[in-house]
Amino acid sequence: MTNHESLTRRDFMNGVGMGTAALLAGFPQAQAAPAMQGASDTFEPDVALELIALPRSVSLRPGRATSVWSYQSRVVKGDPASVQALPDSYLGPILRLRRGQKVRIDFVNRLDQPSTVHWHGLHVPDTMDGHPRFAIGRGERYRYEFEVRNRAGTYWYHPHPHGHTGEQVYFGLAGLLLVSDEEEQALPLPRGQYDLPIVIQDRSFDDGNQLRYLSGTGPTARGDASGAPSAPGNTMGGRGMMGGMMSRGAMMSGGMGDMGDMMTRMMGFLGDTILVNGRPESLIEVATHPYRLRILNGSNSRIYKLAWQDGRPLTVIGTDAGLLERPVHKDYVMLAPAERVELWADFSKDDLGTQLTMMSLAFEGAMGRMMDMMGGGSMGDAMGGSSLAAGARFPIFTVKVARKLNGSLELPDRLSAISWPRLQDAVNRAKPRTFRITMAQMQWGFNGRSFEMTAVAPTEVVKLGTTEVWEFANDGGMMTMAHPIHVHDQQFQVLERRHGAGSSGVRDGYVDQGWKDTVLVMPGDRVKLLMRFADYSGLYLYHCHMLEHEDLGLMRNYRIEA
Ligand code: C2O
Ligand code: CU
Repeated sequence: MTNHESLTRRDFMNGVGMGTAALLAGFPQAQAAPAMQGASDTFEPDVALELIALPRSVSLRPGRATSVWSYQSRVVKGDPASVQALPDSYLGPILRLRRGQKVRIDFVNRLDQPSTVHWHGLHVPDTMDGHPRFAIGRGERYRYEFEVRNRAGTYWYHPHPHGHTGEQVYFGLAGLLLVSDEEEQALPLPRGQYDLPIVIQDRSFDDGNQLRYLSGTGPTARGDASGAPSAPGNTMGGRGMMGGMMSRGAMMSGGMGDMGDMMTRMMGFLGDTILVNGRPESLIEVATHPYRLRILNGSNSRIYKLAWQDGRPLTVIGTDAGLLERPVHKDYVMLAPAERVELWADFSKDDLGTQLTMMSLAFEGAMGRMMDMMGGGSMGDAMGGSSLAAGARFPIFTVKVARKLNGSLELPDRLSAISWPRLQDAVNRAKPRTFRITMAQMQWGFNGRSFEMTAVAPTEVVKLGTTEVWEFANDGGMMTMAHPIHVHDQQFQVLERRHGAGSSGVRDGYVDQGWKDTVLVMPGDRVKLLMRFADYSGLYLYHCHMLEHEDLGLMRNYRIEA
């Protein structure tokens, strides 16, 4: 143990010992946390884990190993099955928790930049939510303690430091967090090997098998990690922003330089290679049996239009926070960054040897009118240097029916009982709180405001114990594109969608029948959400989950006031 790590209980209580340790580590001093809610001396964890973020290398493709950042975890106390490592993957281990469990996770940062951990979708006190104001530097620890209050579902965890979330997730920091509860346990659902997590991410590799992202980022970046240009000569000249962006030669020469970076930050990174569960192989062998496929879109900015290649419908049984009331059949499902969907996939009637591919179907509109402004679809390959444009058609993974199995399971027609919040209880039912997504001076914002570490506008304050309607409006004129909106600490109900002109090819792919924490808002659309602010007061985030947008400021605080 290094000095920085041997912190005492008292240090944790006093803001994780950020004072001296941060100074020693050469990082600007983070704001001291107030005494942590939940992290009291009386907190008796049922499960205690250590979670370390560190650089390592993993063999993903033939030849040289790929340098990544990765989470490693071990169980300090409690059920050893709480942590399931994924061998040969850069993804963090799957954390398996039960509703009602008290969990302690000691996070250790071994990166050379600040980080936090956010438990995406979980309802926890604000000091336990991974807000960037609690970022810790290299060698420091942060103790997360919370009770699992969420229903059974497919949640996940990832870093949330200001300005570096996209970078840290891209280079490997993310993992699934699966919660189970009694209601789910009582159902005849596929379990064990028939309960398959599927994390979909797009990445780009250079010729040396290294991950390619914005200039000067990642574990192999030298010196200043704040984005030093890697290629000379990528200047805009005198043609202004759009003129500069139109110059594909400038963007593509010598990899991504300033201009390519700028455009990637604004439009979102798109990789040209699809990875599943942190591996490039996409063949999954299955038996003639029903499967529960828990699909997470862990991509930085890519939206998928999921469909089986042979046209059989998708049987949806769950969304971001667990099971639907009953199964829903869909020709296709839209899955934006951070969204989860759970499918019942029954291969019991398929012949041995059958191969079935999960596709992302072609769709239009994700880039809204940004694309028109940038000169049309041919610009797709320039974005993030990717040759796989937004809305392109491509295969994601293939299942191969490789084993015969007798005995099966029937899809239950009732999956769960949901008690929804009631619209008539919403205090602002007559006048929903509206957040318009705006773009000005190359900065994304909500109602014209970009991220500020602790600031909250008067329109961003809600009352503990109330129910509200929030409306996200993505109709801000010329500069619109798709944005998946995520609200921390909440699971909400999608009440209403008003569609603009551009989203006709995706509309049937929303699964609004279940609890959601992330919702796709296509260009021209307005979406109304119903949510209840319960249990915890404090400062929480809402933001776009296209991570480049988030890092560029399409994120704000809201405060729940007691
Ligand atoms: Cu999944 Cu604020 O993030
Ligand atoms: Cu966005």
